[in-house]
Amino acid sequence: MTQRRQHPRGLFITLEGIEGCGKSTQAKLLGEFLRSEGYVTVETREPGGTPLAEKVRSVLLDRASEPIAPETEAFLIFAARRQHVMQVIEPALTKGAIVLCDRFSDSTLAYQGYARGLDLAMLRSLNRIATLAIIPDLTLVFDLPVATGLARRRSAPIQNRLDRESLQFHRKVRAGFLDLAKRHPGRMKVVAAGAALERVARAVAQAVAPMLSKHRRGAAEDSPSPRISSPHFSQARHALR
Ligand code: TMP
Repeated sequence: MTQRRQHPRGLFITLEGIEGCGKSTQAKLLGEFLRSEGYVTVETREPGGTPLAEKVRSVLLDRASEPIAPETEAFLIFAARRQHVMQVIEPALTKGAIVLCDRFSDSTLAYQGYARGLDLAMLRSLNRIATLAIIPDLTLVFDLPVATGLARRRSAPIQNRLDRESLQFHRKVRAGFLDLAKRHPGRMKVVAAGAALERVARAVAQAVAPMLSKHRRGAAEDSPSPRISSPHFSQARHALR
């Protein structure tokens, strides 16, 4: 079950970054835009995305729980991911959808690897089992200073177990994402996330556009062209054009 699975018709886009980087808002805007253009999208997140994986997410993020060993944290994440890939991501890609996933494998490398110190090679190898070797077509890394992201998060009413890690921990996470982006320049694009929402959305659009034209061409080969929808959407629509 660990060999590379292909998803010839779908498009898999992941959104990554430190706490408070704005990726979830951008995922929503991108999803709205893509649907308004007639694309079929599946928006999902990790940890989570299925009822079982969402239960694992609650366990992982619960501040009141007992101390959790880094390995326990990693195993829980992989368990949730395996379920998520099987139940949601792979079927959606097989049907040709554009899957927008708020966090995926790169978060595990950044948080459990670069920040917690678990061995990256071990994480990659477990991750291959969890993902059925599915690799995103495009990963957007929303980057901004840790202090800015944490300030956003710490003013939120609810903070999870990882939000409350030290500044040092979150700096390692950020450095991890940037290092991964440097190592995978074809797949990973860094988006400056400190700017105004519309500007960030425009940068997202620029990064996604080449993938879309490929996807559209691919889709046209075996199914009717996507519907061109009526123009009426949020600011993001204009930003994304
Ligand atoms: P968020 O998606 O709402 O930002 O929160 C999810 C938290 O889970 C976040 O602190 C990062 C953490 N996480 C990991 O530590 N490893 C992972 O592989 C994933 C997907 C998330």
